[in-house]
Amino acid sequence: MRDGERLLFGAWKCGIGIKSICGGRGKCGSCIVQIDAAAPDALGAPSAAEAALLPAHPQGGTYRLACLCEVRGALTISIPPESQAVRSTPRKPFTVTAVAARPTATRVTFDIDAPDTAPPRALTTRIEQAAASALGARAVELPLPVLADFSCVPGFDTAREVTATVLRDRRIVQLLPGRHSRNCGVAVDIGTTSFVVFLCDLARGQILAMRTAINPQAMYGEDVISRITHIQQDTALLGNMRKLLVDEINRVLIEACAEAEVLPDDVVDAVLVGNPTMQHILLGLNPQPLGRTPYLPVRSEGVDIRACELGLAIAPQAEAYVFPMVSGYIGGDTLAALLTRAADFYRGAQLLVDVGTNGEVVLAHNGMLSATSCATGPVYEGAHIRCGMRAAPGAIERVWVQADGAIRWAAIGEANAAGDKRPIGLCGSGVISAVSAGVRARLIGRDGALAPPATHRQLHANSEGESDELVLVRAPYARTGRDIVLAQQDIRAVQLGKAALRAGVEILLAESGVTQLDCVYLAGTFGNHLQPEDILEIGLVPPLPVQRVRSIGNAAGDGARAALLDRHQRRRAARLAQRLSVLELSGRGDFQDLFVMHTALSPAPVAILD
Ligand code: FES
Repeated sequence: MRDGERLLFGAWKCGIGIKSICGGRGKCGSCIVQIDAAAPDALGAPSAAEAALLPAHPQGGTYRLACLCEVRGALTISIPPESQAVRSTPRKPFTVTAVAARPTATRVTFDIDAPDTAPPRALTTRIEQAAASALGARAVELPLPVLADFSCVPGFDTAREVTATVLRDRRIVQLLPGRHSRNCGVAVDIGTTSFVVFLCDLARGQILAMRTAINPQAMYGEDVISRITHIQQDTALLGNMRKLLVDEINRVLIEACAEAEVLPDDVVDAVLVGNPTMQHILLGLNPQPLGRTPYLPVRSEGVDIRACELGLAIAPQAEAYVFPMVSGYIGGDTLAALLTRAADFYRGAQLLVDVGTNGEVVLAHNGMLSATSCATGPVYEGAHIRCGMRAAPGAIERVWVQADGAIRWAAIGEANAAGDKRPIGLCGSGVISAVSAGVRARLIGRDGALAPPATHRQLHANSEGESDELVLVRAPYARTGRDIVLAQQDIRAVQLGKAALRAGVEILLAESGVTQLDCVYLAGTFGNHLQPEDILEIGLVPPLPVQRVRSIGNAAGDGARAALLDRHQRRRAARLAQRLSVLELSGRGDFQDLFVMHTALSPAPVAILD
């Protein structure tokens, strides 16, 4: 670490992820670390602002906020489980297993004429003629940088057999002497929290290896607004964030290549999708306009760019495709999710919902597509709640109350290194499940208030005698050594997020004249973990039979793979971007009324708006 560097950022650079909900601004208290040993003057004393956010240490040790500590000497720290920025592992990283292989990049091996073949022709001409003949094309294009790379390969001018990677049967992007049959591509689904890399065989349409990793930009905050704010304050951070992400994608990609025994140079095509902020940062575009009215992207069309210009560690002249964006919040990930929907999605009234810190909702109604996005807040990512955490091992993802009143839970598996399987906290779906279970068992009213303390032995009262938390797991059974609770303020956060999403859905339905949905598709990590009966119980989506609420896994990742393996899907994505009409909620007068109406935790029917 650099002398004086803040502990949070230094740790991330060393590959140690510390939670940073507020992006290192000393506001959230999520980056608490324990100081085990420190050289004299390694750390200054905590400021008043830092001290105010530090909890008392149970054994009299020292806690500090990693984002506010400037390190000037040797230091040993421990990171409590709740402060660890663990990766959010998609448990259904893909649902579509095979895609018809019609790739954009194909490989063809051919023989070229010897240099002394009459009439005498330059190497370029001989390669272009042989490639065109092998492809059955009238002509192919051989760009100078590709030829320049080839001319540095030993034996390039004497090779008779050459393999060319050709884009769209037209442009050569790589030349290799000899026969090379492996033709691979990579699809990357970039989330604000984590990303997924799919290494695929382009000829067979199959996944060769898959990896997920945390998005290292998380050191600058867990949501897109924090990252945009950082860039607003210091534009140089745009380059830093871009490099952090690309370096991490490359690291993970090299691992995936090693697993599949593929050389990075055999990866000749790439498709990348993400929300608009992630795509802007990836492309080096300043995302500030996304965060202010009228919330427009700097560029909306899809981008074909050379992989080396993006910094991707694949065949240097290979092309990468970054999906189009529709608005400030409807980006390539939403379009990619839509790509996975077949013709039946466009019949009747179907809703596709992807909930995270922001909720993106797309309505398909009789062939028309409309979309909106609503600020659901961090609760659905397990953030800003008392015992919240990401959907990772140790996170409670499901809660239920037995007939005898006993509170039961199920956590995401995997013990830590010491074999400890006890839960750590609640992830987003765990919070929703706990609230739904509490409502069903009447421990929580439809107005969101916890029942009086006398109602249940695990309801704790505050100094005024009112319930302020429901204990889900007692301290001895939790890995943190503290009770895992659902606090009254957590329930309020669920209500606010739910009300925002539902108000957006209501406006979308009203604008299309829809009063009854045929199906709701839940996309994304959060959607994967949700129980349909839980979201129907609290009215997160309009009422419909439970079997008509379906999780569609990592639809954005599936869509990215579809666009990698089937060249027609890129054109389809561009057409979808044109078709999708976006409804902006910020200026709507009816939003507030609907928002208030839907703070109730009840399965309210679709409202008929004037
Ligand atoms: S207080 Fe340190 S990241 Fe928020």
